[in-house]
Parts: sequence; C-alpha cells; structure tokens
Amino acid sequence: MILSPSILAADFGILAEQVREAESAGAEWLHLDVMDGHFVPNISFAMPVIKSLRKYTKMFFDVHLMIENPEKYIKAFAEAGADGITVHAEAAKDMPECIRLIRENGCIPAIAINPDTPADAVMPYLNDVEMVLCMTVFPGYGGQEYISDVEEKISSLRAAAGPDLHIEVDGGIYDYNVDRPLAAGADVIVAGTAIFNGDIAGSVKRILR
Ligand code: DX5
Ligand code: ZN
Repeated sequence: MILSPSILAADFGILAEQVREAESAGAEWLHLDVMDGHFVPNISFAMPVIKSLRKYTKMFFDVHLMIENPEKYIKAFAEAGADGITVHAEAAKDMPECIRLIRENGCIPAIAINPDTPADAVMPYLNDVEMVLCMTVFPGYGGQEYISDVEEKISSLRAAAGPDLHIEVDGGIYDYNVDRPLAAGADVIVAGTAIFNGDIAGSVKRILR
C-alpha cells in the first residue's frame, strides 16, 4: 500500500514542516488537490504552493487536478514539480491528448472518476495510464463521508486491469475503514482529514500498520 496524504487538511502556515512529519512517518507520496471553482465548487491552491513545497521534500508529488480544461495547465504543473498528474474523465475534453501531454512533460498519467462515473469511462485507457483514481466522495471538499458503493467499481477495475495498474482511492478514508478499499483492490490511499489532525506521525502509522 502507498499512502498519499492530502495537504488540503494541513496547516498551510507550517506546510513544509507538516509534510516532512508525514514523510518521516512513512508516507511515500503527497496528494495535491487543485480546485478551480468551476469543475468543483471550491477553490484550493495551485502551482506556487507546489513549487514552494518541491524544495522541502523528495516525496512523489501526486497532483489531482479538479479543474476544467486540464490540458491548458499540464505543462505548468509539471514545471511546478508534479511527478504524477491526474485529470478527471468528466473534465477532459480530449483524454488521449491529456495523457500525451502529461507524458511529454515527464510526468506519470492518471485518470480520476467521480463516484457516479462508471468504470467504462476509463476502460479504453487502461493501457495508456499508470493509475486510475476512484473518488470515494464527490470532489470539492475534505472531511466528507466515504461512499462504500464505489468498492464494486474498484473490484471490477482491478479484475480488468490486472495487478500492475495503480488504483487510488480518495475521500473519507481513516485507519478504521482503510481495509475496505484495500480489500476491493485499491493500492494507493489518499487521506487528508485523517492525517492532518494534530498527530500527523501517529495517524500515518495507524493507516499504514
Ligand atoms: C476531495 C479531495 C480529497 C480530499 C480528501 O475533493 O480530492 O483529496 O482532500 O479528504 P479527506 O481525507 O478529508 O476526505
Ligand atoms: Zn484528491
């Protein structure tokens, strides 16, 4: 299992410090939730925050773009320090072009799907991407409740893709329910609220245990 803490729930005043605490406790990836106020109702942060953090850690930067017209910004996120870039199937007008741009800019491509988007939306691209992100909440906010119905979709994706594709889950995951998406076939776990809650190192270790 790879743990990818989402900084959305972190204290941005001491962000680098909090990220390093998560890294020292065993988190290998860092999940960066970019929201534009259009694809999702909320606005978060973008390139300057990613570029600043890049100086403080060598963690894999897992950039989750919840934005319209993602193709316009892929290069800028790659230059800011992204290692992996995830675009939403619901937002990308030309998915093959997005995948091509992500690779051309030296990053690892992934596709995200909302809880109500069927696995069919990603099936044509399973050989072209390294990861599928199955949202376990509707994107836009941290701290929402885990939607267990998504587990069925995770299982069918795992069956279709075999062992090599990363399947990431994002939203409402804590130490007490992390076994559910893992049992369904996910191998990359995003957690925000569960980690940046006061005891970062302890929370990382409890999820990874
Ligand atoms: C939701 C984001 C998530 C979110 C997860 O739009 O994509 O990454 O921050 O937050 P928690 O773990 O608090 O549900
Ligand atoms: Zn996310």
